[in-house]
Amino acid sequence: MSRYYLTTAIDYVNSRPHLGTAYEKVTADVIARYKRLAGFDVHFLMGNDEHSQNVYKKAVEEGFHNNPVAYCDRMEEEFTAVWKALHCSYDDFIRTTQPRHKAAVQKLAQAAYDAGDIYEGVYEGWYCVSCEAFKPEKDLVDGKCPIHPTLTPEWIRDKNFFLRLSKYRDRLIKHFEANPSFLEPEIRRNEILRLLDAGLEDISMSRAGQSWGVPLPFDPDSVVYVWFDALINYATAVGYGTDDARFAQWWPADLHVIGKDITRFHTVFWPAMLWSAGVEPPHQVFGHGWLHYGGQRMSKSLGTSVDPVEAAAKFGPDAIRLYLTKEITYGSDGDFTWERFEERYNVDLANNFGNLVSRVVSMADKYRAGRITPAGDGGRLAGVAGAAFERYRKGMDAFELHEGVAAAYELVDATNGFIADSAPWKLAKDPANAARLDAVLFEAAEAVRVAAVLLRPVMPSSCDEILRRIGAPVTGSDLRLDHARWQSAAERATVQGPPMWPRSEPKETIVTEPAAPASATSAPAAPVPAATAPAADTRIGIEDFLKVELKVAKVREASAMPKSKKLIRLLVDVGEPEPRTILAGIAEGYQPEQLIGKTIVIVANLKPRPMMGTESNGMVLAASGPGQPPILVAADDSLPPGTRVG
Ligand code: MSP
Repeated sequence: MSRYYLTTAIDYVNSRPHLGTAYEKVTADVIARYKRLAGFDVHFLMGNDEHSQNVYKKAVEEGFHNNPVAYCDRMEEEFTAVWKALHCSYDDFIRTTQPRHKAAVQKLAQAAYDAGDIYEGVYEGWYCVSCEAFKPEKDLVDGKCPIHPTLTPEWIRDKNFFLRLSKYRDRLIKHFEANPSFLEPEIRRNEILRLLDAGLEDISMSRAGQSWGVPLPFDPDSVVYVWFDALINYATAVGYGTDDARFAQWWPADLHVIGKDITRFHTVFWPAMLWSAGVEPPHQVFGHGWLHYGGQRMSKSLGTSVDPVEAAAKFGPDAIRLYLTKEITYGSDGDFTWERFEERYNVDLANNFGNLVSRVVSMADKYRAGRITPAGDGGRLAGVAGAAFERYRKGMDAFELHEGVAAAYELVDATNGFIADSAPWKLAKDPANAARLDAVLFEAAEAVRVAAVLLRPVMPSSCDEILRRIGAPVTGSDLRLDHARWQSAAERATVQGPPMWPRSEPKETIVTEPAAPASATSAPAAPVPAATAPAADTRIGIEDFLKVELKVAKVREASAMPKSKKLIRLLVDVGEPEPRTILAGIAEGYQPEQLIGKTIVIVANLKPRPMMGTESNGMVLAASGPGQPPILVAADDSLPPGTRVG
């Protein structure tokens, strides 16, 4: 089995993780889980970066001046609790204060020294403590670091040891040319190529007179500079300095997933450090974009952070994982707002995938007592699933995670459409259709199974639950990518369960514009009496409005009601196992055949009422001006049936 070693950046522990740092870990976890699904022997490393001056300062502030490591112990617990809450499946969690790391840092520093690549000098310049990096004057904006504009850089003059980075410039350029995928996406590679073109200066790799850090083996009065120290974590974790056999097995790393702000450290400093010590550089680095909040990079120091645990606790970890993967083009910056997150939760999970699962399982239960049997090789959905599989694999292999998810959702959407078109509730009425009903139920369930296998790297626990409900033969970590191929063998036993993702109801609905008058109508709209006297306040509170369930519906059938000039009998799909019959007073505005396929809005929680010998189960919304025929209130066609309006 091929091995795949991937890592994330290790985090400074002067503050708790926020959703921006979580973005990196979650997307790297999606890659790790995808690689496992694809059959690789994966080693996934995460960890904490502890030897930063900011971490030391924070430890002192928190009363740990005698024992900063104890502060880091506490932060390790906090960080790993967050990563576990987000279902990050790391195999190892490294900390830079661990003895194994000290051994690795000292070995690499000594090797570079022995190679003649480290020399002593004096450094003077502006230093941003948050970046833990010297900043050339030309890079400052109004005297401030552009990444941390709320902090003032410090002027530092130090006796330092330097790494001969300049010596490696040509080799780096050649390496980039020979390995076009070394740094992705392309925009990041171009940034680094420009930097290399401009020339490289040697970099400081030590700090004098500090105790917080790994002592330099050739000058115990200095400690190793935090970035030189931190990068080595990737080698430490697989045995560099402690276990040569293990290191030979796992190095070079296949992928470092990092933020776009630290590509220079990973693709210029790090390869040079490794070459200097006679070690190969990693195969690939991916520099993802930043998560923004309120138009700014999400960051504790900028006051724009969102707590990832709060989001996971409210909507489940898989909902937040889906948002981060599906809504942001991987490699570009993306936005998070609570409003948008809640909206996507309702559309993608509650109304779409979640509703599809409930529908399929409840129809299997109702019509076949939870036993569905294959009939044939699958109909049109087998083809859609095959195409989705190919698009998914291409996207995921290219780290276009958003593309992979979109491919899986193509199948979810097609399955919803297939159910609406095949109308199993109609087939169930006539025993002559039994074989067709079997085929439709199996095809829909199989499509859900394939979608759940594809989405498992993104939503592991929910997809396992869906696979269980749908009676999938293989679930959990035994799944391989081949299980996402269409299977038309073996009876499946489905299992009912509560909604996977209950709809989230907004606490408050803000209406900015008064809507055009719309009348809820199941009979001809009655003329509204003119107001004669100052009316009492007839306005209703939001709590009353929220009692009315307005939902998107698709008209499947429409026919004129005999003996009525005004009523049309509609059969509408509201995302429930069976469509509803509604009698609507819209015959003066429409011919029945014009209505088929329309996406409309209905009042869904109205008590059914008998009308002209038929039970009407809901009301359609229509607007009509005085003396004008009614016009239906339309909803966007992309909204799946059952989507809540309000
Ligand atoms: N300790 C260094 C990394 C050393 S790796 C050998 C560091 N730490 S950090 O805590 O500042 O950032 C950790 C990671 O989170 C980095 O990859 C950084 O780019 C990423 N992010 C920090 N804020 C982020 C967003 N708002 N959005 C996305 N990623 C973000 O840098």
